[in-house]
Amino acid sequence: MVILSVSGITKHFGGLTVLDGVDMEIEQGKLYQLIGPNGSGKTTLINVISGLLKPDGGKIVFDGTDITSKGLFDTYKTGLVRTWQIPQPFSTLTTMENFLISANSNSGESFLVAPLKSKWTNDEEEITDKAMQIMEMVNLTEQKQTASKNLSGGQQKLLELGRAMMSGASMILMDEPIAGVNPTLAHQIFEKISNICKKQKITFLIVEHRLDIALQYADYVFAMNQGKIIVQGSSDEVIKHPKVVESYMGK
Ligand SMILES: Nc1ncnc2c1ncn2[C@@H]1O[C@H](COP(=O)(O)OP(=O)(O)OP(=O)(O)O)[C@@H](O)[C@H]1O
Ligand SMILES: [Mg+2]
Repeated sequence: MVILSVSGITKHFGGLTVLDGVDMEIEQGKLYQLIGPNGSGKTTLINVISGLLKPDGGKIVFDGTDITSKGLFDTYKTGLVRTWQIPQPFSTLTTMENFLISANSNSGESFLVAPLKSKWTNDEEEITDKAMQIMEMVNLTEQKQTASKNLSGGQQKLLELGRAMMSGASMILMDEPIAGVNPTLAHQIFEKISNICKKQKITFLIVEHRLDIALQYADYVFAMNQGKIIVQGSSDEVIKHPKVVESYMGK
């Protein structure tokens, strides 16, 4: 099933065409990667899909909803969630607290339901259980009571991933999740992402530069150059494709 469909997306900055008619079809429950040389438009495309930037033309449909002109928050509410390149968790809160505030279905926050304590308590228990499960999936159980500012860089990225899952995301966008992370931890992060993708049927679209580490985890790869998808297919097909090789050599 196609969960995200991007068609004919264009974006200009002043006189510069940064996205030049991008088309993508993304199926549910797969791990997609978006690669391409510096300045090819990858971050801009993620910004446009997540609603941070509005496209100048084209259409984006997520899970049956036209999200082309929706902003970041309305897009987030449809289940399409972006994690940040530089993790910005609430730094004095613990891992557990960060997880709990990311849950988007806490009816205790609604003044109509708040007086009904039993309903509220049930939700609290459910959310705590969900937080424990997700914490285990992203390997942060031991850091449950650690303030997020004391987590390592890699652990903060796992925290961001966990928070996106807590929000009930059905698709997660990530821009360079392993930038600055040592190779061992980088592989662990991609293994976690891959497991979550397969077991929870969450769809991922990930921009990554460290192809030697990242590509082996991809189900499907899009290669961009100068604002266009130039090649797409399996990791092997894409990385060996002359157009892709040439695009990297030009830089
Ligand atoms: N807000 C902006 N205003 C003007 N130009 C911009 C803006 N954001 C990006 N650009 C330009 O758009 C082009 C694409 O940038 P983008 O950040 O999307 O590339 P990228 O593929 O993510 O690159 P990298 O691999 O270096 O992260 C670049 O030429 C960049 O300078
Ligand atoms: Mg970028």
